[in-house]
Amino acid sequence: MKHARVGIIGCGNISGIYCQAAARYEQLNIVACADIDLPRAQARAREYHIERACTVDEILADERIDLIINLTIPQAHAEVSIRALEAGKHVYTEKPLAISFADGRRILDTARARGLRVGSAPDTFLGAGLQTGRKAVDDGLIGRPVAATAFMLGHGHEHWHPDPAFFYQRGAGPMFDMGPYYLTALIQLLGPIRRVTGATQTTFAQRVITSEPKRGETIQVEVPTHIAGVLEFASGAIATLVTSFDVWHAQVPLLEIYGSEGTLSLPDPNHFSGTVRVRRMDQPESQELAHIRPEVDNDRGIGAAEMLEAHEKGRSHRASGEVALHVLEAMEGFHLAAQSGRHYEMTTSCERSPLLPPVGL
Ligand SMILES: NC(=O)c1ccc[n+]([C@@H]2O[C@H](COP(=O)([O-])OP(=O)(O)OC[C@H]3O[C@@H](n4cnc5c(N)ncnc54)[C@H](O)[C@@H]3O)[C@@H](O)[C@H]2O)c1
Repeated sequence: MKHARVGIIGCGNISGIYCQAAARYEQLNIVACADIDLPRAQARAREYHIERACTVDEILADERIDLIINLTIPQAHAEVSIRALEAGKHVYTEKPLAISFADGRRILDTARARGLRVGSAPDTFLGAGLQTGRKAVDDGLIGRPVAATAFMLGHGHEHWHPDPAFFYQRGAGPMFDMGPYYLTALIQLLGPIRRVTGATQTTFAQRVITSEPKRGETIQVEVPTHIAGVLEFASGAIATLVTSFDVWHAQVPLLEIYGSEGTLSLPDPNHFSGTVRVRRMDQPESQELAHIRPEVDNDRGIGAAEMLEAHEKGRSHRASGEVALHVLEAMEGFHLAAQSGRHYEMTTSCERSPLLPPVGL
């Protein structure tokens, strides 16, 4: 399906990055874009010379389009993805796959019933940083991975995002928003998760927007904004993942893997590059590893391009719906465990995606 025709639904903040990715990946042949707010779609089409700006109904009825990239807000992901699949189109969606595990499962079931593909962000694990870290684990540089820590500590998005309310509505919060980067990285490094548990709190009932154009507006917080999670992997490794929108300052690693023979320090899993360091048990200090792939800054869209390439070649794609569903189940699992006071046993599993070749897809 090389040169498949791609349509974008959701022309907000992140859509520009995907439009720019089309210049790097010939697979991303974007021919139309849509939004419930039509002028936004029209503005994107003008900016990036996209043939057609239209309504959601029109883009779904457009028989030329093979793949929909769903860049709507998380609360609309399931509805838009399922409508696209029902219209016979493959789907690649921004994270999270959906805001509930049940909705995520419906997306994958709908795709399977129709023989269509689902891919999902994050695709940062395909970047030079995490690919290099993954090879280090596979090559045994730290021995057998036994534990990991991952921290996403910040103070929310209302100081920069133009329309930040959705980050505090059902299905959002720091775990659903940022957890996918950390969980996807952990799964790609350590394999599938067996069970999770967690504790959560909502520290501030309201947040005040300090970014333009909604400066001064108040957001009612509907979700926990500090989530501490513990994960047990099928491999036996144990990870701690804390995501928070309540922390002003912190000095903790973003992502570290502790092995029987050393420690691997990884870059921010929300980024495509960054420094990877290993310190083996007998080394006085850590050493930087050379990247195994070229560095590309903000390479969002590589997952969708790789999915189209995989479809063309008749193989599985890497940023898969199965991984995204496993991630979604774990995120919901932390919240359910916190409510019930019991571990959440995972019902899904997934495969680690193979490393990318040294160049290309
Ligand atoms: N902004 C970022 O830096 C960033 C980074 C990575 C991932 N993401 C993810 O990308 C997605 C979009 O985020 P954003 O920051 O671009 O949000 P945004 O609010 O800027 O844009 C979302 C767009 O979707 C449209 N929309 C909402 N519901 C719709 C529907 N039912 N049908 C059609 N259009 C609809 C809105 O009108 C808006 O134009 C989210 O899932 C987010 O988690 C965002």
